[in-house]
Amino acid sequence: MYKFEKLAQSIRQMIEEGIWKAHDKLPSLREQSELSGYSLMTVLNAYQELEAQGWLYAKDKSGYYIAERAELEISQKEAPPAQEKIQINSVVFNYLKDTQAPDIVPLGSAFPNPELLFNSKFMQLLSQHAKRKNSYLNHPNMPPGNLELRQIIAGRYQLQGISCHSDDIVITSGALDSLNLSLQALTQPGDFILLQETVFYGAWQAAERLGLNVITLPDHPESGFDLKAFEKALKQYPIKVCWLMLNAQNPIGYTVSAEIKEKIAQLLAKYHVHLIEDDVYQELNFGKEKPVSVKYFDQQHLVLHCGSFSKTLGMGARVGWVFAGPYSNAIQHVQLMSTLTVSPLLQNALVDFVAHHHYEKHLRSLRRALDQNKKRFYQELKARLPTDCKIHYYPTGYFLWVELPTDMDSQQLYTNLLAQDISIAPSLLFRPKHQAQNFIRLNCSFDWNDKLAAAVDQIVQQIETHKKA
Ligand SMILES: Cc1ncc(COP(=O)(O)O)c(C=O)c1O
Repeated sequence: MYKFEKLAQSIRQMIEEGIWKAHDKLPSLREQSELSGYSLMTVLNAYQELEAQGWLYAKDKSGYYIAERAELEISQKEAPPAQEKIQINSVVFNYLKDTQAPDIVPLGSAFPNPELLFNSKFMQLLSQHAKRKNSYLNHPNMPPGNLELRQIIAGRYQLQGISCHSDDIVITSGALDSLNLSLQALTQPGDFILLQETVFYGAWQAAERLGLNVITLPDHPESGFDLKAFEKALKQYPIKVCWLMLNAQNPIGYTVSAEIKEKIAQLLAKYHVHLIEDDVYQELNFGKEKPVSVKYFDQQHLVLHCGSFSKTLGMGARVGWVFAGPYSNAIQHVQLMSTLTVSPLLQNALVDFVAHHHYEKHLRSLRRALDQNKKRFYQELKARLPTDCKIHYYPTGYFLWVELPTDMDSQQLYTNLLAQDISIAPSLLFRPKHQAQNFIRLNCSFDWNDKLAAAVDQIVQQIETHKKA
């Protein structure tokens, strides 16, 4: 956090606590500078930031005053209701353990088909680097990470029209690491965060581990994102951070439109709330253009954008990053006391692979194969499933979200199928606070074959048996 943001935060807190009321005059720049120990420029930046957010107004030559809007906003924020404790970690632990069995049909797997991720050029570069002493040096690869790799990642943001410098990037051990480090850097136990009602279980796990209160945003049946409900939540609760996934959303699969993303960025600015944007599937679009992110519209450095190579090159290249901007230092602080550093060998091999366009070539063939496999899986599934089941199909990523008959419990289905060496991902993993648990996520990145057909037949049989009971 910049110094001016720290000062703005503490002034905002004093307004929220009622120490300053509407139309009270703030100390002059010089007085505030003497009081706080910050420079005049820092104080001016903090006042201007609060003015832009509607907390203060300026009177010519007279100084800065507390705005009425500020009082209004505070009175509108409800005392947060007692939050139910999140308890998801053991459910996720059991699911991850269960799906590790070697002969299991991996329809519940979170990982794309490794056959599609394997790239011989990357392996070749890795083995060349493995023979060089320089590839193992600690110093140039410690947080914030390998400079060349950060420059390449910053360049990829610039190609998308997002202003980015290598200093904005922190390299991490995969996206889960970047998401967790970001959340830890921005929150304290007891803070309120906002999550989509149905979302990647990693977000729920992080909230449980860090002792955070979760406010959920209802799923929107058409656009994927309910802007009205979003603004209402930001107005109503003291939300500090949102963690959202808006491209090829896991588990449902939708991609939110650019128009909505722009409005999300505007609302974040209006309420001065941070966003941790999980964008690990951004590269897995089937159309010509990569979808934009909220980061694209972020003018106030409120969005921390997280990405990774693990969904495109596999677990063997589990290197991620966060576009942290001014929070780079705060994130490195947490990183240096937890996951520390990322393999220098992997970072160096990635530099060569991505810089020389091998990555783009790999992405093109990966997208083609995922598109084909997903379409085939969808057709086979649709032909088999009873008509009261609904498949949510989106042309991106490698998951299908399937709605089963309303009275069916997908956790029970999961247990029954596991006994037959078939894994699926039940909805409890993604929407632990929701009543309706009749959904499953299926991984459709594999080439269609007899084993998959037999597994799908088993799912259908279980549904039919349930309906007859
Ligand atoms: C939505 C989502 N975010 C983050 C991650 C973690 O990515 P990584 O393997 O790069 O840590 C996953 C992995 O399954 C994911 O599905």
